[in-house]
Amino acid sequence: MKVAIIGAGNVGAMTASRIVDDDLADVVLMDIVPGLAKGKALDISDARPVTGSSAGIIGTESSRDLKGSDIVVITAGLARKPGMSRDDLLQKNAAILKDISSQIKKYCGSAIVIVVTNPLDAMTYIVMKETGIDPKKVIGMAGVLDSARFLNIASEKAKNVEQDKIFMMGSHGDSMVAINRSKKLSDDIFSESSERARKRGAEIVEHLKTGSAYFSPSASVFAMVRAVLKDEQKTLCASAYLEGQYGENDIYIGVPVKLGASGVKEIIEIKLSGSEKAAFRNSAQSIRESIKKLT
Ligand code: LAC
Repeated sequence: MKVAIIGAGNVGAMTASRIVDDDLADVVLMDIVPGLAKGKALDISDARPVTGSSAGIIGTESSRDLKGSDIVVITAGLARKPGMSRDDLLQKNAAILKDISSQIKKYCGSAIVIVVTNPLDAMTYIVMKETGIDPKKVIGMAGVLDSARFLNIASEKAKNVEQDKIFMMGSHGDSMVAINRSKKLSDDIFSESSERARKRGAEIVEHLKTGSAYFSPSASVFAMVRAVLKDEQKTLCASAYLEGQYGENDIYIGVPVKLGASGVKEIIEIKLSGSEKAAFRNSAQSIRESIKKLT
């Protein structure tokens, strides 16, 4: 199996390293910055005798190397600086992703595409439209990350919180929607930890000053790549294309999905309370506003 990763910054390179270290698939790491992908690919390849992996990895500046990819992960684009919202990246990253989409269409138009570039939901929509790939095969990475942050923060305050019972839906932005189906989490801890999780990306950017999070984002992409390559049919949250589900149409937004070899096998419609429904609708509205600015 072959996974192409476009963008050899922190998220892209760390994802490549996780895939190769785990011997999951051969990796092509691509970046337009001369030498960046090549240097990082050599470094990742040198770890193979230590990890015992025999996965292949090359670094490249040429989109021709996308040929034959089973999965393409797009991490390319600008990252946030302190004080910026994910939406501040909208126009610049849309232009970058339109160009990348035309290369994907040319060289590996039947691949499954996982989008990581922000603002996530709008960028995933653009990639689906521009590549013309079946929407079930174009998926955005955010729900795994946002849910992991939420669970991690909540678990520091409450014991035995069930992994699949608290998660994040909606946009990968300020209006993401926290869901609690765990009896182990009091209302207070729920609101406090979901609020912190919502701001976690920005909290990390404030500390780092240059660049944004990449350890947990790359772990989240890795989980999605593995679910596809091993046809795990695993339920996880991701930005998926809705056609009527949750009362929404023609939009990418975070929902629980079953992910396997064919991409999104099923969109799982959980029953939402009145306030959750309203928050989800509000989140969808914010994504639509971003998309409208681009079309
Ligand atoms: C974050 C970036 C990946 O949430 O959007 O840290």
